[in-house]
Formats: sequence, C-alpha cells, structure tokens
Amino acid sequence: MLATIQEEFQIKAILSSMIDAVIVCDVSGRIAMANKAAESLFLVGENGLVGKLFSEISHDAKINQMISEVLHNGNELFIETDVSPNIQIFRVHVAPIKDQEDVINGAVAVFHDVTDARNFDQMRSQFVGNVSHELRTPLTSIKGFVETLLDGAMENSTTCRRFLSIIDAETNRLGRLIDDLLTLSSIESKERIIYPKPVCIQHSIRSVMNILGPQISEKGLQVEFVYNSDLPRVLADEDLLGQVLINLIDNAIKYTPPHGKIMIRSRQRGSRVITTITDTGMGIPHESLPRVFERFYRVDKARSRDQGGTGLGLAIVKHIVESHGGEVSVASEIGKGTTFGVSFLLV
Ligand SMILES: Nc1ncnc2c1ncn2[C@@H]1O[C@H](COP(=O)(O)OP(=O)(O)OP(=O)(O)O)[C@@H](O)[C@H]1O
Ligand SMILES: [Mg+2]
Repeated sequence: MLATIQEEFQIKAILSSMIDAVIVCDVSGRIAMANKAAESLFLVGENGLVGKLFSEISHDAKINQMISEVLHNGNELFIETDVSPNIQIFRVHVAPIKDQEDVINGAVAVFHDVTDARNFDQMRSQFVGNVSHELRTPLTSIKGFVETLLDGAMENSTTCRRFLSIIDAETNRLGRLIDDLLTLSSIESKERIIYPKPVCIQHSIRSVMNILGPQISEKGLQVEFVYNSDLPRVLADEDLLGQVLINLIDNAIKYTPPHGKIMIRSRQRGSRVITTITDTGMGIPHESLPRVFERFYRVDKARSRDQGGTGLGLAIVKHIVESHGGEVSVASEIGKGTTFGVSFLLV
C-alpha cells in the first residue's frame, strides 16, 4: 500500500529508531505497520500488531473513535489520554495518509509519552499552592494583630509591645521562608555554582557549633563529637556544607527536649566521609520517614511552626548533598531519637 520494498525498508528503519509508538492503518483500520515502541505500548510480541484491526488492540473508545473519524473525514486529530493498561499519559496524534488524488488510504497514529511533563506540571502547581499557603499563614497573623492594634489595642502599651513582638516574629518567619525558597531554587536551577574544595568536616562542625552554641546551652543539651584524628578531607563547597550541618544540628536541637544528648560522628567509609547526627529527641514516626526530605513536610505542623520552622530545611540538605554526589539517610525510633546521615566524597 505504501511504497517499494526499498522505501518500506527505510521507513521501517526510521520507525524502529523512534521513541514514540507509531501505528499505520489501512483504510479499513487494519494495521499495516507498527514499530517496536508500539508493540511494547500495547504489550504484544514482535510483529504482534500487523494484520490486526486497530479496534482489536486498543480498548480506548476515544482513540478508536479518532481513527475512524480520520479515516472518514481526512482531518488530523490530537488528544491526550492514558492508554490502558498503562498508567502513562500519551498525546495521541492521528493523521490521514492520502494519495496524489487526495483519496484517504489509511491513517498514522503517533503516541507520545507526556507523563513526565504532566507530573511535573502537577508538582509545580502543588508547590505554588504550598508556597502560597505558607506565606499566607504569617501574613494572616500579622494582619490580625495590626488590625487589633489599630482598633484600639495600641493605647495599652503592654499589649502594644506584645503584639508588635508577635508581628516581629512573624515577619522574621516570612523572611526566613523567602530566604530558604531562594536557596532551594538557586541550588535546584544550578544558578548557585558549587565551588568544591578540600574541606575538613571537623572544622566545619566546630564553626557550626559556635553559631548554635547559645541554643545548645539554653536547652542544657550535651553535644558529643566523635571522629578519628586521621579523618580525610572531603570535596565540598564550604558554605553549602555549613548549611547542611546547621540544618541537621538545628533540627536535633529543636526536636530534642532539654537536657538531651546530641552525638555527631564522622567516619570514612570507602571513598566517602559519612557524618551522622543522632539525638535523643522525640523521634519521627515510621510512616513519615520517607517524606521528611520533601519541601514543607513537617511531622507536627503546629510544633514546627512554634519553633519558627519553614519545613524547607531538610529539602535544602538533600539538594545540597546530592548536588555534591553524596547521599542522605534517616533512621528513627519514636520517643528514643533520630539519626540523620550525610555523605560527602573524599578529595
Ligand atoms: N531530629 C529530628 N527529630 C525529630 N523530628 C525531626 C528531626 N528533624 C526533622 N524532623 C521533622 O522533620 C520535619 C522537617 O524538617 P525540616 O528541617 O525540613 O523543617 P523544619 O525544621 O520544620 O523547618 P526549618 O525549615 O526551619 O528547618 C520537621 O518539621 C520535623 O517534624
Ligand atoms: Mg529544620
């Protein structure tokens, strides 16, 4: 129907190299040609499609309808659909094949997998929804206190001071949220160039301990740092490594009750240095463990907000560590404590 043997050979070679599934039908809807991608899409073996009616292999009424419409009217059609029994989403394009006299000879259907693009769209709109929600919470609280002040609470200086300090805290939260979002997006978009150089993890940990010292002593926590004196240096961007450690140690402090203990261990494992931070805190429920590195995920929303948390800390940690070629891990037992681990490559 289509071409000489030589041409048919060429067409087959082109079709078999295509990622998109392609099916060619004759005017009665019988399959004249199909590529490998089409065979795997419709779950049939080699040459399992040719000779069958399209309606025999596809149970999707919309696509069958499209093919018969194209064979009748000769217009090109597009739809987006999941081709059962797959869970993927395909953009299906059906075009007529016409001869020189414009007579319809058949149709060609191309199935282009758009699952990733659709999932990405969904993730993006979820993210925008989450960000808006996170921004709105402190904003609503600020607005509420400002209105109460304007309504007269301003006259009482004690109340006024109390409300202003709440507004101050909420404004700080908004600022932190925006800083964290910018950090995350700059690492993700590779806009923030990573400058890896040999770094002593023990130095970085000591400087983080200096920054977090006041919070540690305020809660009466005991912090222990264990490492071998011959611990090799790792290849890392010092600022970003500092952010990883700050986030993990800050969590250990926040989620551990007063007088608890935090144990930091660094050791070499093959071509990496693994640093673990173990606390004697509240722990994380088993079902939440796979989600803690997600943006905005918090086990206890109210408690994390009380602590000023944005729920972005661990997402930032994961991104930084992975962009250095390392890995993150978490293990926890409710009521006993949590261990977070990060690995960095040796110099
Ligand atoms: N050491 C820990 N012990 C118990 N729960 C933890 C620990 N670290 C993290 N979590 C849980 O994981 C959630 C996510 O942590 P993450 O650091 O991403 O956000 P956050 O601490 O709430 O806010 P921030 O953005 O300020 O760090 C926390 O809200 C908390 O529920
Ligand atoms: Mg945190």
